[in-house]
Amino acid sequence: MNKTIALIPGDGIGPEIVEQAVKVLNAIAKKFSHTFTYETVDMGGIAIDKWGEPLPKAMLEKCLASDSVLLGAVGGPQWDSMPGHLRPEKGLLALRSAMGLYCNLRPATLWPQLAAASPLKDISQGIDFVVVRELIGGIYFGSHTTELVEGQPVATDIMRYSESEIRRIGKIAFETARKRRKKVTSVDKANVLDTSRLWRKIMHELAQEYPDVEYSDMLVDNAAMQLVKAPHQFDVLVTENMFGDILSDEASMLTGSIGMIPSSSMGEGTRGLFEPIHGSAPDIAGKDLANPVGTILSAAMMLRYSFGMEQEATTIEQAVSTVLDKNFRTSDTMAEGCTQVSCSQMGDAIASACC
Ligand code: IPM
Ligand code: MG
Repeated sequence: MNKTIALIPGDGIGPEIVEQAVKVLNAIAKKFSHTFTYETVDMGGIAIDKWGEPLPKAMLEKCLASDSVLLGAVGGPQWDSMPGHLRPEKGLLALRSAMGLYCNLRPATLWPQLAAASPLKDISQGIDFVVVRELIGGIYFGSHTTELVEGQPVATDIMRYSESEIRRIGKIAFETARKRRKKVTSVDKANVLDTSRLWRKIMHELAQEYPDVEYSDMLVDNAAMQLVKAPHQFDVLVTENMFGDILSDEASMLTGSIGMIPSSSMGEGTRGLFEPIHGSAPDIAGKDLANPVGTILSAAMMLRYSFGMEQEATTIEQAVSTVLDKNFRTSDTMAEGCTQVSCSQMGDAIASACC
């Protein structure tokens, strides 16, 4: 197959981790006789510096013209004091929205080889669940204002959800559960928020349509506790945008390192955005220290979900497992008896294990 992939290296460690994913994609292309053509897209801080805005129109168009998009990370302290519309993250949010990517899947799977790396190892053995996060609604996309009221600044962020926005993500959660252990936990704050009460009502309606799927609601504060108390109870955890952002970071620590977790963001079509869930880690940027596995596994998700290349995706996942079996670790997952490797060595090792 011929596929065009838009690559967004972004900021911080973004370029170095995306470079490793490209090595792996090239190894796959060679092995399975595909042609992957790459288009590099500036987004985030680098685009602000070069073009004066986080997602220039021409860059968005490159993404929309591609078959799928692979992203490293955006953001960094040098852009922290920029006004809201000129923040690197704004580019990412605009891209998710423009591509209609309402469904964000963030798997929390424990690699047995990394069991010892999790600070929560005593409770996290064998966990396997996925966070289904609504990605283009809620407080992220309501209006954000700061105004002077009686002489002092007052800031407002609006959280808004429509019934159809809730229903479409809910359906994905139930469908996902059907292919797994058939259990959905919907996380909300229905004891306080109207958006959550609507969320819960729609989820209950959907639960009737999926009688084969076990359904429960959970308040978000309790969910935060249950994730570190009894994470095995989760199979599919579905939640709104901001709760999903927070809970997926929490869930990642059950797996040992946030550096290992990929994500897929998709909408109605097959074009998606695939990115690790971690940030741009400016403190280690350019030092060849980052863990590229989250990005490499995101590339695997892209092959599976955007291109329908199941065997190719599995090849990458098995290559990661092989390299972990060889006890190669980047610094974030380093443990006794293992060999510490750099970001590029990890990329090389996984690429050659694909062949
Ligand atoms: C994530 C990130 C983003 C988010 C930021 C960079 C805007 O934290 O993908 O989880 O909050 O969605
Ligand atoms: Mg986040």
